[in-house]
Amino acid sequence: MNMPRSLLEEVMTVSLRRGILYPSAEIYGGLAGFYDFGPIGTRIRNNLIHLWKTQFVEARDYVYEISGNTILPSQVFKASGHLDHFTDPSAECSKGHVTRIDQLIEELLKIPAEGKSNDELANLVMEHKIRCPVCGEPLRGVKSFGLMFGTNVGGDRRQAFLRPETAQNIFLGFKRVQTAMRAKLPFGVAQIGRSYRNEISPRQSIVRVREFNQMEIEYFIDPRSLNECPFFDMVSNVSINLVTREEQNKAAEKSSTDYSSTQLTVKEAFEKQFVPNQWMASILGDEMIFFQQLGIPAEIIRFRHMRPEETPHYSGGNFDLEIQFSFGWKEVIGNAYRRDHDLQSHMKGSQKELSIEVEGEKITPHVVEPSFGIDRILYAILEHTYRPKDKSRGWSWFQFPPNLAPYHAVILPLLNRPELEEVAKEIYEKSRKMGLAVLYDDRGRIGRRYARADEIGIPKAVTIDPQTLDDDTATIRNRDSASQTRHSLKKIPSFLHPSKQK
Ligand code: GLY
Repeated sequence: MNMPRSLLEEVMTVSLRRGILYPSAEIYGGLAGFYDFGPIGTRIRNNLIHLWKTQFVEARDYVYEISGNTILPSQVFKASGHLDHFTDPSAECSKGHVTRIDQLIEELLKIPAEGKSNDELANLVMEHKIRCPVCGEPLRGVKSFGLMFGTNVGGDRRQAFLRPETAQNIFLGFKRVQTAMRAKLPFGVAQIGRSYRNEISPRQSIVRVREFNQMEIEYFIDPRSLNECPFFDMVSNVSINLVTREEQNKAAEKSSTDYSSTQLTVKEAFEKQFVPNQWMASILGDEMIFFQQLGIPAEIIRFRHMRPEETPHYSGGNFDLEIQFSFGWKEVIGNAYRRDHDLQSHMKGSQKELSIEVEGEKITPHVVEPSFGIDRILYAILEHTYRPKDKSRGWSWFQFPPNLAPYHAVILPLLNRPELEEVAKEIYEKSRKMGLAVLYDDRGRIGRRYARADEIGIPKAVTIDPQTLDDDTATIRNRDSASQTRHSLKKIPSFLHPSKQK
């Protein structure tokens, strides 16, 4: 009997077939937790990054973008605390399979386990006789597994590490950026780039990977002005779903991880002190506005106040933006109130001054950090815009919002006739000159070509057919309704613009 395929398997099947993403070094069997984005995935990813930059960087003249290296000397991570604290708990079986044990416990026992001590986890393993998920052998002991990827640099083999977050370059270059840009508090430093974590058990496609992509901003704030965020008024009425610590404690008493959330506005979250400061409240609203553009419904987005034991070592409070996937709620953005932890740690580690003078007073800024996981957000978009094949359409497809779709339109000559191809090429070139992202496809039956376009979520298909030669019109097929309307050739490119598409 054929088992029904999970949504993840279905999404991955189309993603592999259509060049959205695939395992790195696939022809050698690949390495778990490493994926490449293909031509289509890269276009969607670039669109996502563009939307992020537009809202969070370009629209704010107090946010500066940098682009830092991924390999940094070991002193950086000694000072930041990553070398000592950035670990996950692991357990090993007699055959040498190593498992991330807190997650396995959460899955099997349905209790929150992240952040429990190794002894507590070892007791749960013994009490519930938890066995190796690979071979079924008993698991022994629980150890901390370091997540940092190390390397040695140059002839003197100096110890270095691949950064586990883009944030560290921002702290290291803080003084340079502040002086070069003559920046006054508050200001933000943004960075988009790769980070690395040697995950014990990577899985769920690109949701948990070892090399991943982040978009982070560190907002540097005068600690006396944490309740004066410049964009608070813009977002204060935005509604958010919040999972409080109180709610999580209540659920834990019932051995459950099924949390209810409280719906409230950003203003209420701040005024009722659910969040540590106005900046934190504001970035939660900012993120809801961003997510409205991605095709992910607000009902399946929530902010969870992380429990103290799972809060990162640098943070004075974390509010993860979680999305409900087919395999449960997962973090896609970490929002951390990092206080002055990083600047203080690097001042101590480097013996360099990283405080700044504000009106004659020496200030070490506090930091609020929204940290977006690009890969996870992309997978969330894939899962939530995926439409399986049904009676009306014999193929599965993606309903990407036009501003994320890999192309705005595909141009199709109905038949392989030079006079049709000539008009199709003209429309194609004219659209490109107007800055539209268009694809030209003249291979195969027209139905197959519509299916190929739907599978990569192209919102519009323009078909040049014999009638075009008579009356200078062509059809535009709407991906979502699969219906077609005729328009004059002159007007067609302007109809393809994402601003004209719902
Ligand atoms: N910078 C926060 C994180 O990477 O989780």
